[in-house]
Amino acid sequence: MTARALTLAMKGVGRVSPSPLVGCVILSESEEVVGEGTYIYSEVTHAEIIALAQAGERARGGTAYVSLEPHTHHGRTPPCTEALINAGVRRVVCPIEDPNPLVSGKGFERLREEGIEVVTGLLQDEAERLNEKFFCWHRNRRPFVHLKSAISLDGKIATASGDSKWITSETSRAAGRALRHEYDVILVGAGTVMADDPSLTDRSGNERGRPLVRVILDTGLRTDPWAQIVTSGRSEPTIIFTASSDAKRISLFEDVGVEVVRVEGGPRDLASVLDALRERQLTSVLVEGGAAVAGSFLDARLIDKFTFFIAPVVIGGVSSRSSIGGKGAESIAASVKLKDVSVSESGPDILVTGYPAT
Ligand SMILES: NC(=O)c1ccc[n+]([C@@H]2O[C@H](COP(=O)([O-])OP(=O)(O)OC[C@H]3O[C@@H](n4cnc5c(N)ncnc54)[C@H](OP(=O)(O)O)[C@@H]3O)[C@@H](O)[C@H]2O)c1
Repeated sequence: MTARALTLAMKGVGRVSPSPLVGCVILSESEEVVGEGTYIYSEVTHAEIIALAQAGERARGGTAYVSLEPHTHHGRTPPCTEALINAGVRRVVCPIEDPNPLVSGKGFERLREEGIEVVTGLLQDEAERLNEKFFCWHRNRRPFVHLKSAISLDGKIATASGDSKWITSETSRAAGRALRHEYDVILVGAGTVMADDPSLTDRSGNERGRPLVRVILDTGLRTDPWAQIVTSGRSEPTIIFTASSDAKRISLFEDVGVEVVRVEGGPRDLASVLDALRERQLTSVLVEGGAAVAGSFLDARLIDKFTFFIAPVVIGGVSSRSSIGGKGAESIAASVKLKDVSVSESGPDILVTGYPAT
C-alpha cells in the first residue's frame, strides 16, 4: 500500500510546485481500501483529507498510508495530523519525514502523542526520489538542477560547423521534451538561443500548476530580440540573466514581456542566478545546454541529476563540440562519479540517468 501511495502522489507531477508530491491510501480495519487521495497545489486540499473524506467512518480503526510525513502546522490548510487523529485512524505508515524544518518529525511526534502507531522507513529511497526537487529545495536551499543532454556515442552535441539537428531520434527528443513538464524552469545559454532559436515550451499537453519559466544566461545581452523565445515573452514567462546595464537594449526585451535580471557578477555567478530563482519560488531547473552552460554548472558542482540520451552516431573531430564544456576535472579521481545509474533503451538510442555520488 505504500507503493500505491507513491503512485497516487505521482499523479500530481507538474501540478504541485512549490509543494511536495503526496499520495494517501486509507485501509479500513478489515483491510479494505476505503479512500485514496492525491495532492494538487491549485486544489489546495491535501491528499490525506481527500482520502479521509472518501473513507468517512470506515477510517476508524484503519491504517493511513501516506507518501510523506503529514504536517502538523497551519499552512494553507489545517494540520493533516489532526484530521487523521479525529478520523480515528489507528496506524499511519509513511516512508519518510518531511524535509521542511517547519514540519520535520513533528507530524509523527503528534500522531504518536495520540497513541497512533507510526511505521516509517518502508520504500524510503523511492519516496525521497519521488520528491527529489522538494528535498533539494529544503536541504540545499536552492532549486534542484537537472542536466539533460542529447549526445553522439563519442559525447558530442554538435559538429565543428555547429550542426546539431538532430543527433538523437524522435523518440528521445519527445522524451526529453516530456521532461520539461516536471520542471519549473528550463535554462539555456545565449549560445543555444543563437544557434538553434528554440521555443523551449512544455508541449506535453499535460496540465501544469504554473507556467514553465524559460531562462537565458546572457552576459552582454547579445540575444537576438527576434528570437522565438523573446517574441513569445508575453505568453510564456521568460527571464534573461545578464551583466548588462544597457537601458536601451534592456527595454527591447522588457517591451515584449521578457524580464531582464541584472546579476552583479554576471550570469556566470550561478549561485546568484539560483538565488534569484529561489526568491521567485521556482524549485527546479532543467538545464538544456549548451556545452558552456552545462560546463559551468558541472564545475560549480551544481548538478543534482544527469540525463544523457546517447545516439548510435559517431561525429568525431577535435573542433566538434563536446556535451560539457567548462574547465572539467583535473584528474579522473576528481571527476564526477554517478550513483543510482539507470540505463534503458529510447528508440534506437540509449538513455542514461544518474546522480552525483558526492
Ligand atoms: N544536443 C544537445 O542536447 C544540445 C542542447 C543545447 C545546445 N546544443 C548545441 O550546443 C551549441 C551551443 O553551445 P554553447 O556552449 O555555445 O552554448 P550555451 O552554453 O547555450 O551558451 C554559451 C554562452 O552562454 C553565455 N553564458 C552566460 N552565463 C553563462 C554561464 N554561467 N556559463 C556558461 N556560459 C554562460 C556565454 O556567452 P556570454 O559570455 O555572451 O554571456 C556563453 O558563451 C549549439 O550548437 C547547440 O545546437 C545541443
